[in-house]
Amino acid sequence: MNSHPKKLFVRSYGCQMNVYDAQRMADALAPEGYVETQVPDDADLIVLNTCHIREKAAEKVYSELGRMRELRAERQTRGEDMMIAVAGCVAQAEGAEIMKRARGVDLVVGPQSYHRLPDLVARAKAGKVVDTEFPAEDKFAHLPAASREKTLARGPAAFLTVQEGCDKFCTFCVVPYTRGAEVSRPVSQVVAEAERLAAHGVREITLLGQNVNAFHGEGPDGKVWGLGRLLVRIAGIPGVARLRYTTSHPRDMDDELIAAHRDLKELMPYLHLPVQSGSDRILDAMNRGHTARDYLALIDRIRAAQPDLALSSDFITGFPGETDEDFRATLALVRKVGYASSFSFKYSPRPGTPAADMDQIPEAVRSERLLELQALLEDQRQAFNRSCVGREMDVLFDRAGRNQGQVAGRSPYLQPVQVDSSTLGIGDVARVRIVSNGTNSLFGERVGVPADMETVA
Ligand code: SAH
Ligand code: SF4
Ligand code: F3S
Repeated sequence: MNSHPKKLFVRSYGCQMNVYDAQRMADALAPEGYVETQVPDDADLIVLNTCHIREKAAEKVYSELGRMRELRAERQTRGEDMMIAVAGCVAQAEGAEIMKRARGVDLVVGPQSYHRLPDLVARAKAGKVVDTEFPAEDKFAHLPAASREKTLARGPAAFLTVQEGCDKFCTFCVVPYTRGAEVSRPVSQVVAEAERLAAHGVREITLLGQNVNAFHGEGPDGKVWGLGRLLVRIAGIPGVARLRYTTSHPRDMDDELIAAHRDLKELMPYLHLPVQSGSDRILDAMNRGHTARDYLALIDRIRAAQPDLALSSDFITGFPGETDEDFRATLALVRKVGYASSFSFKYSPRPGTPAADMDQIPEAVRSERLLELQALLEDQRQAFNRSCVGREMDVLFDRAGRNQGQVAGRSPYLQPVQVDSSTLGIGDVARVRIVSNGTNSLFGERVGVPADMETVA
């Protein structure tokens, strides 16, 4: 234990798993005396928690490292210093290459080694260190838990990684290489973490995994538990008002999980279920393992279990070999499903993935299709938001509102909701009637509370 406080700055890119990892890195370094700072300028240790999913994301790291090196040079003129570490998926994918390309990096650490950070940081003081092993030990068993204060400061909605890695090998994707094979945490470990979060005031937990619904953790009964069963168990923890899980693969939506959508009031009626493309030919070339019709039939089944379900998806435009007809099939699928929100990307060839060696289609075509798809998805998002006006829904309040006297929260469908209230606090879940919608937020008023009780004095 070192009592002299040192400052840690972590910047995360990429998916929610990196957000979770950033917290765990801070937790791992807290016993060494590191406290988090929101600005890099005065940090003793800077961690760039990187993403390798698309070329743009990966390249961003190098420009950021350039800036950090300037910052460091400035500090050195004042007789001070800082350490620069690269973590996350670029660290895993590029390892020692990073040291060569970006001078001034002291430590490269892959996602499976975060529990070793105190030791790695100590060693990096003496010379450059690279650790991108997939260690035999379970990092989660060795990562210290967050303090009560830290959990409270992170807010009432928390992430909890239950599964890491991926065995699906979609032909465009780096994740199986950067995060390794699919591993599920034991149920008891996940439940203990969820209980601790709830005891510290967390009301909503999002279970995370690159393939979260492939979860197959060892249960306390020695049997393998699927995600549906895990959700039932966590929903029973006192204080847990809401559950979500992301990201799911259509192939892993089993009956138990679909039943959880019917049976658990805690499980929010909002599902991110990426389809990537609506063309069977492209889905096959992507190695997704299902057809467009399979996906639509699956959605029918989940909607039958939970009629209130809203959906989101990820899409890729301009995958190698995608014809105009294939792209039209994607638009047709989007029209059939009707998404509440979506993420869409133009295909980016990634080193070492099979699709990078396929015949590429022109960049301009990828971009053009992306724009057309995004226009449709944006129309659907706006239509969904408009359809919420007049409806009542439970909102979890998680931050101060935009204006004085307002509190802000999230709807079951993750839309930001602003409410005028002097009585609602952070962490409250309250019934709200949606009265109007802006471009991104909904505006609501509390149900069953007279307006004069909510007027700020
Ligand atoms: N496990 C999740 C996705 C993880 S990556 C799943 O199976 O859906 C998040 C999203 O990034 C993907 O859904 C995909 O839409 C996008 N993506 C991944 N690799 C990409 C690439 N090479 N080019 C463009 N988009 C990509
Ligand atoms: Fe990548 Fe496919 Fe695995 Fe998702 S399922 S992480 S897209 S390989
Ligand atoms: Fe990016 Fe790694 Fe997540 S590549 S999307 S940070 S798993």
